[in-house]
Amino acid sequence: MDDLVALCKRRGFIFPASEIYGGINGFWDFGPLGVLLKNNLRDRWWNDMVLCPPIGPDGDPLQIQGVDSAIIQNPKAWEASGHVAGFSDPMVDCKLTKLRYRADHLVAVVDERNGQIFAFNQDHLEEKATLKKLKKQAGTDELAKLKVVPFSTIAVADYAKVIGPDTDQKGTLTEPRAFNLMFKTYVGATATEDDVAYLRPETAQGIFLNYKAIVDNMRVRVPFGIAQVGKAFRNEVTPRNFIYRSREFEQMEMEWFCHEDDAAKWFEFWVETRKKWWQSVGVSGDNLIIRTHEQDELSHYAKGGQGTKDIEYRFPFTAPGFGELEGIAHRRNFDLTQHQEFSKTKLEYFDDSVQPPRRFIPHVIEPAAGLTRGVLAILSEAYTVDPSRPSGVYLKFKPSMAPVKAAVLPLTNKDGQPEIAQKLYYSLRTKFVTEYDTKGNIGKRDARHDELGTPFGVSMDGEKAKDDAATIRHCETMEQERVALDKIE
Ligand code: GAP
Repeated sequence: MDDLVALCKRRGFIFPASEIYGGINGFWDFGPLGVLLKNNLRDRWWNDMVLCPPIGPDGDPLQIQGVDSAIIQNPKAWEASGHVAGFSDPMVDCKLTKLRYRADHLVAVVDERNGQIFAFNQDHLEEKATLKKLKKQAGTDELAKLKVVPFSTIAVADYAKVIGPDTDQKGTLTEPRAFNLMFKTYVGATATEDDVAYLRPETAQGIFLNYKAIVDNMRVRVPFGIAQVGKAFRNEVTPRNFIYRSREFEQMEMEWFCHEDDAAKWFEFWVETRKKWWQSVGVSGDNLIIRTHEQDELSHYAKGGQGTKDIEYRFPFTAPGFGELEGIAHRRNFDLTQHQEFSKTKLEYFDDSVQPPRRFIPHVIEPAAGLTRGVLAILSEAYTVDPSRPSGVYLKFKPSMAPVKAAVLPLTNKDGQPEIAQKLYYSLRTKFVTEYDTKGNIGKRDARHDELGTPFGVSMDGEKAKDDAATIRHCETMEQERVALDKIE
């Protein structure tokens, strides 16, 4: 992971936000290469969901409409959706170090000989520093004698015996308390408590708020979908793992409105379709699993019904385990029912395609993917160590995802070569993202494009230019191929 983060910085994919001020935890900026990669993934999703949606189980293309809703909505929307009351994580503070932890990410290591308890981040449990601290503080090498239990099982009365993750003193951790993840702001100049509004923590609600306008104006019939890509904001207690869990990120969400009786069928359809989609953008099936949520981890809107299944990816920091890339939830008719009640606006659908006609509030199957997290999955998948190359590493993207598709690399300044190379560049750049690269020797230029994951490097020297051809170097195989100039495109 450290190597990937370093490459992302060195090659202009992703930078820490506000770096010249020491950064700001949980925020990242996409550089010139990163924004190209992210847009490729976003556009591909938009194409495959909205412009050219999948063929449904009955052989017809599905209907999916796109929207781009406001990030700030009427705050009542977030009361109706349950986010004001329920969108929180349990948080524990260390009074001494002022560090903050997600209680549900902590484990307690109990020394049964003396009742001493050590709290650790579950991800750090296997790390050397953790084991060293345990051995030293528990005064034993026989760690097998220590019992590991979820932190939530520790009684508050025993907190005085707990040594926190980043201290060696007892009793410094506070009781867990619910911490709402929504960022608050004020709308208007008076900035009183009556003016509080929230940055959206999911793009989904902007879709539910537009459901009526789409049904009334867009000639859609249930089942149909509404899709949106955009920023979401969560004041995560512990942002971590590069862009995996950040405080500002992008989602690609689609709400599929259907009749309750068909929800189970559509749920399975979307789980399968979405898993295949990730494979189509270059995420290997071996690194993907589908995991069904346990009852106690379901979001408030997904209790009952088909529940939620996650598509998980084997990220470098979760390996050999997996981390969530996309969740497919059966939100039932929870959101529309809530918005109907809170807004006093009828959100029922009138279906006259059946006899007798019926009115109902549609159920919703929601494939909710992370765009930012998707970029991390694609980068992790592409990152390939290869000691035989000068760069020692290259990015093996599917060409459709690669930020730069081709590099035009003239080798000398003679024989009219720059002119030929430029002509080719001017033509290629109108169709593909193409770089004209003359800096440094060809080995250095190849090494750079290996690290950018540019699938095709087109080089030409005076000799070769005479036969109206150039050499294409394939990034993935390093094979070289002579191709006539007019066939290169
Ligand atoms: N509308 C449903 C919803 O928002 P979610 O599982 O909370 O569900 C969907 O989020 C996806 O958004 C996740 O699968 C993940 O890819 C991405 N995501 C959620 N929180 C994130 C964070 N803090 N940083 C980056 N991506 C995040």
